[in-house]
Amino acid sequence: MQHFISTADWEQSELQSMIDLANQFKQGPTGNALKNKSIALLFFNPSLRTRTSFELGTWQLGGHAIVLEPGKSSWPLAFEFGDVMDGTAEEHVIEAAQVLSRYCDLIAIRAFPKFENWQQDRQDTVIKSFAKYASVPVINMETITHPCQELAHMQTIQEKLGTQKNKKYVLTWTYHPKPLNTAVANSSLLIASKFGMDVTLLCPTPDYLLDDRYMKLAVENSEKYGGSFQVTHDIEEAYSGAEVIYAKSWGSLNYFGNWEQEKLIREQYKHFIVDQQKMALTNSAIFSHCLPLRRNIKATDEVMDSNYCVAIDEAENRLHVQKAVMTQLLTQKI
Ligand code: CP
Repeated sequence: MQHFISTADWEQSELQSMIDLANQFKQGPTGNALKNKSIALLFFNPSLRTRTSFELGTWQLGGHAIVLEPGKSSWPLAFEFGDVMDGTAEEHVIEAAQVLSRYCDLIAIRAFPKFENWQQDRQDTVIKSFAKYASVPVINMETITHPCQELAHMQTIQEKLGTQKNKKYVLTWTYHPKPLNTAVANSSLLIASKFGMDVTLLCPTPDYLLDDRYMKLAVENSEKYGGSFQVTHDIEEAYSGAEVIYAKSWGSLNYFGNWEQEKLIREQYKHFIVDQQKMALTNSAIFSHCLPLRRNIKATDEVMDSNYCVAIDEAENRLHVQKAVMTQLLTQKI
């Protein structure tokens, strides 16, 4: 049984098949792949797009989605094996995952890092525990990567550029008043490199490099799929000739949990905002962002309202790719 936790576990051809199926769903109503099926959507963190598109996509395929918010509308959970559960958790994931597997055909999890200790957060304990104890496929709705966003992003790039192969792709760090998750940034490197793009990571200093695990995968994917991967701290160099600009903010892993100190560095780089001046350096690039986005902090109004901004198309594509992912997981030969 295969889960959808990271695109690193899937071949490029398998991911392309899911995008192809998403394109079919986008053309109009297609079948009842989830008839008499159900999915448990567990949200440990807020969402607009992911929750709406998963609930609606399930309904459109004839299935039923149940939203649970552990610690709010359902019991707070424990995850460590051998825990003496004398804290706030009322239930262990061992039971929760098994019980949900008896009711539902799929389980999807959103669980952001705790933002205290990256060595712990990078273990991705919540979703890995569900995958260990569940007997149905588990889908990542954003933990330390965001694979559903990746597919919607690549679907959008293919729609707008025709082919993505060897196109110059820039992931640019942007300022944000809070230290944000690296998940979408990690995912951006994974998907662009897996689809053979010429990938540039633009960030202010080496403090903002991503986890080695994802940097190495970007290099390996580039070698395997015929793209390239480079890092720069030079804004002009990165934007010059780019065909895709993808923006995201994230907190420095070198200062993880030490956010007051990290903020002093982050505050110096507000000029990484995506604006028309920078976009003018590109080769008529499209611009995207996973959303939500703080206007005039990460990107200007002019960029967000431009005809090259495809963030809304990418958000729409979340609906189509998630229907494809659910269909794929339910039809796999176990
Ligand atoms: N991009 C994304 O996952 O949006 P939400 O956080 O609103 O679900």
